[in-house]
Amino acid sequence: MLLRGRCWLLLCGLSALCARVSLAELAPPTVNISLDEDPGVRWKPLSLYFDPAYLRNASAQVIDSTVPKWVHQAVKPVVLALEKYIPQPYAGEIRGLAEHVGGSLADVIILNFAYEVTAFCTSIITQDQNGNVYHGRNLDYPHPVLRNLTINVNFVKNGKVAYTGTSFAGYVGLWTGQSPNKFTVSGDQRGSEHWWNWWKNWVSAFMFGRSPVGWLVRETLENAEDFLDAVLRLSKVPIITGVYYIVGGVRAGEGLVITRDRTGPADLWPLEPINGAWYRVETNYDHWKPPPKRDYRRKVANKALNVTGQDHINMDTLYQVLSLYPVCNGITVYTTTMSAAVPDKYNTLVRPQGCLP
Ligand SMILES: *[C@@H]1O[C@H](CO)[C@@H](O)[C@H](O)[C@H]1NC(C)=O
Ligand SMILES: *[C@@H]1O[C@H](CO)[C@@H](O)[C@H](O)[C@H]1NC(C)=O
Ligand SMILES: *[C@@H]1O[C@H](CO)[C@@H](O)[C@H](O)[C@H]1NC(C)=O
Ligand SMILES: *[C@@H]1O[C@H](CO)[C@@H](O)[C@H](O)[C@H]1NC(C)=O
Repeated sequence: MLLRGRCWLLLCGLSALCARVSLAELAPPTVNISLDEDPGVRWKPLSLYFDPAYLRNASAQVIDSTVPKWVHQAVKPVVLALEKYIPQPYAGEIRGLAEHVGGSLADVIILNFAYEVTAFCTSIITQDQNGNVYHGRNLDYPHPVLRNLTINVNFVKNGKVAYTGTSFAGYVGLWTGQSPNKFTVSGDQRGSEHWWNWWKNWVSAFMFGRSPVGWLVRETLENAEDFLDAVLRLSKVPIITGVYYIVGGVRAGEGLVITRDRTGPADLWPLEPINGAWYRVETNYDHWKPPPKRDYRRKVANKALNVTGQDHINMDTLYQVLSLYPVCNGITVYTTTMSAAVPDKYNTLVRPQGCLP
């Protein structure tokens, strides 16, 4: 699978628009974004990979299918005074994306709102018998065009990769990322708040200056010193809505699921390998409650991990668990597997058709 992914990249060179004929998993393009550049120009390299007309059309599809029309009205004051409502570097990056990559300022802002929700996701943190920590995630989103917008991003500072993430072209936050030799993070949506309420929260939270969940992931990747510092930041910093943050470190025992309320942690659920808890599976429900009957992803993942066993868990077997239906399902966009201690193994594969039963 890895090999197929690499071949695709070679064949396609710089164009993300080339025909994706194979139904096999595909590696998305990797884009270098320089943090040493001004926020207003740092996303310019995206235009090497995406035709602006295609991006505009794809963004319009995502927006039409997810964002209620009244939000377009609500966002008008933000468009007029972007820097007043949105902190740096995000304001500058959003302005630069609109200018250099494609889309009106209003559309790029709304698109960034739209990506602050994901539908159903699965994250798994595990530890093998030698104490190596592996972290995997599926990102699910109910719009197929996102498979064409998926990118790996290297955020480069002073010529070195400061952190890596997997994102969608046009989005300045992150749901998945790695700070090399320090920690890995993924976010899963918590619960199923009604979209209407959710949008209300979003707009009002803007005014309170709380961080969108994807911005906190990015800020943590950028600033946290180590696993523990990352856990503290992801637990404490106020955010606009509840979420699950799954965090992996570089040493044995460094792995946990943080259940977040807006203002702070509701629960911390660490690996406890000494007591046999060598993995934690988080989908979109509080781990101490049973999930709804119709959504049995948690059970399938738990069972598959039990069958795999701690003596056989590694990046490949973790990927296999994340490929089982319905852990991987019709709206799964991509799968990432990562381990902060071996940052070069960071791997994302796009699921061109999701997974079928
Ligand atoms: C995107 O492009 C397709 C094909 O060219 C077109 O049918 C569709 O209306 C466009 N969608 C939007 C939202 O612009
Ligand atoms: C993704 O891109 C491919 C190749 O350009 C295209 O055939 C396909 O229709 C696109 N998928 C969506 C959902 O837009
Ligand atoms: C991205 O940046 C890294 C670190 O500077 C470098 O090693 C790599 O070659 C760059 N990749 C591309 C595609 O420019
Ligand atoms: C997995 O194994 C654990 C520990 O033996 C057990 O408690 C749990 O019920 C198993 N889960 C499934 C779904 O088989």
